Amino acid sequence: MDTVYLNGDYLAHDEAFVSVDDRGFIFGDACYEAIVAHQGRFLLVDRHLRRLRSALAEIRIDFDAREIEELLPELIRRNSLDNADFAMVYVQVTRGVAPRAHAFPDPTTSPTVYAYAAQLTRATEAEFEAGSTAVTFPDLRWLMPRIKTTGLLPNVLAQEAAAQAGAVDVVLHRDGVVTEGAHNNIFIVKDACLITAPADDMILPGVIRGCVIEMAREAGITVEEAHFTLEDLFSADEMFFSGTTTEIRPTVIVDGRRIGTGAPGPLTRRVRSLYDAAFGSWHT
Ligand SMILES: Cc1ncc(COP(=O)(O)O)c(C=O)c1O
Repeated sequence: MDTVYLNGDYLAHDEAFVSVDDRGFIFGDACYEAIVAHQGRFLLVDRHLRRLRSALAEIRIDFDAREIEELLPELIRRNSLDNADFAMVYVQVTRGVAPRAHAFPDPTTSPTVYAYAAQLTRATEAEFEAGSTAVTFPDLRWLMPRIKTTGLLPNVLAQEAAAQAGAVDVVLHRDGVVTEGAHNNIFIVKDACLITAPADDMILPGVIRGCVIEMAREAGITVEEAHFTLEDLFSADEMFFSGTTTEIRPTVIVDGRRIGTGAPGPLTRRVRSLYDAAFGSWHT
């Protein structure tokens, strides 16, 4: 049976419970991260923990993220995922258990820390070559999506719209301006230039988004962090989604319309090979 981590203990999944008064359950008063491991070694932990620390600071949950560094390898080991090519640890920190009231609880309230591990499957070469699909959907989220909160209802509704349409991903937009996916970032290619929404207040600054921008620039590819519209996306030469579990996913159909040639393009392939080459060096 899977072993999970809850407030300092390693428990069988079926024996792990949180209180109905947990503020994560009641208010979505929590943030989270998903970090992947390759053969038992975690990738880009520093970047994930930096983002988590900044989210915790913004929502003022007092929690020492060093606890997470310790639980990551232990959870992988206890779930026999040391040799998995691609596994993930999901970790969430809530403001803890307190009688329901919107304002912060007594400062002595301890955060609830929950983590689980899971094996992931990477897209096959054939899936990459076929390209993927997406639908567009309004970005209904609050104005601080840079915080990776568990309050994901707008993302859930958006991803369900994709599922209903038989598509893989969703292109979120605010009044026609593209922001990101429900759980990944978006890049388009126009005239050999990579374009992605700026890491202002309207997106989650993805760890892989950041790596793609850095690697592409180092490789001499022009990258613009700029707002772009649905029209720009539909007339783009190429497009792909990026993310920790998404990796680099070329998208060739959006709302039933073909993007570019309808096949993964040269710049997407280049980014994917930069990603693959870097993958092995992202271990801590
Ligand atoms: C809304 C959103 N955007 C982007 C991403 C991609 O971020 P990362 O590359 O850090 O996985 C995620 C990841 O979960 C996300 O939830």
